[in-house]
Amino acid sequence: MEVRDNHWGLLKIGVLASGRGSNLQAILDATLDGRLEAEVAVVISDNPNAYVLERARMNNIPAFAVELGGKPSKQAYEEEIVRVLREHEVGLVCLAGYMRIVTPVMLKAFPNRMINIHPSLLPSFQGLHAQGQALEYGVRFSGCTVHFVDEGVDTGPIIIQAVVPVLQDDTEDTLSARILEQEHRIYVEAVRLYAQGKLTIKGRRVFYE
Ligand code: GRF
Repeated sequence: MEVRDNHWGLLKIGVLASGRGSNLQAILDATLDGRLEAEVAVVISDNPNAYVLERARMNNIPAFAVELGGKPSKQAYEEEIVRVLREHEVGLVCLAGYMRIVTPVMLKAFPNRMINIHPSLLPSFQGLHAQGQALEYGVRFSGCTVHFVDEGVDTGPIIIQAVVPVLQDDTEDTLSARILEQEHRIYVEAVRLYAQGKLTIKGRRVFYE
């Protein structure tokens, strides 16, 4: 199944994030310096105080807080997010440190058009504190994964992974920093492949043209 139908026109990206937004920055930088032919059209956070919103505004990107609190249901919350994404004609949704589980409301609105970055070599260490889980388990290598989003948590078809060594004296912080450097690289690369219409999904496997 080809995953991008709008080969024509510049790809508009919507970023969903809950925190500091360094992955947003990496994608944004790549669009600005010409490495990535795409445009970050909107940034949405479930946390009104997240630094990611500040980053977006500093770059003149429309930025919205959509809070779950106060909404009658998670469905209503996601419908609001979908509305904002559609309003900005988003063709690809990038989850970048978005700390909520996505439900079918968003998945159905953006089928095969939503990707996520996770700081481990999936399927190892899904969920929260992946870097801490890797340290605790004692693996010699960890890394990061960009994957399509499906109904599970960190389970969708894998687009790209990068491997990072775990060193003897690593703490969760030092390992996270080493992984983050690779996150910034592979997230841009994954969006680039997507934007160029080069990705195809067959079952669980993603193929490059
Ligand atoms: C990253 O480690 C990402 O893999 C995880 O959350 C973190 C977000 O970092 N899902 P940032 O907000 O992009 O700096």
